[in-house]
Amino acid sequence: MHIHKYERWWMTFGVGMLIAFLVLLGVAAFADNINPPSGMQQIDPAKVAETPPFDKPGLHKDSDKTYDAYYVAQVFSFNPSSITVPAGSTVRFYVTSPDVVHGFFITHTDVNMMAVPGWVNLAEHKFARPGTYLLICHEYCGIGHQNMFGKIEVR
Ligand code: CUA
Repeated sequence: MHIHKYERWWMTFGVGMLIAFLVLLGVAAFADNINPPSGMQQIDPAKVAETPPFDKPGLHKDSDKTYDAYYVAQVFSFNPSSITVPAGSTVRFYVTSPDVVHGFFITHTDVNMMAVPGWVNLAEHKFARPGTYLLICHEYCGIGHQNMFGKIEVR
């Protein structure tokens, strides 16, 4: 089979770009350790309601300005739906899901992760300024997806 010279150049270019991007992805993931937010902690999705600390979702005070917030994301709500912390607090958000993949995004912060059945994901944020922050599910999870939200009150 005869392949035209220019066609061969394009094929070489295409395969070369594919290899270059895969190498960059590998370097970012393994050498730079850039990964999706995840505590790499596993949980049985069928037993979330009985597994501490997710049997009692909510806000737990860790120290003076540090809190742990345990969230269960489920069709179609967050538990807890609302938390209140003083301004200047650092909150560690632990999130899991007993059903399907949900999103966990807090507006005006860099907290942006997924709630994945079988996994506990973790993100941390310091709320310097008072205000109301919206927590939204930004992964399509079913017919009530658009109603899935919560809030973080910073006083
Ligand atoms: Cu949960 Cu979309």
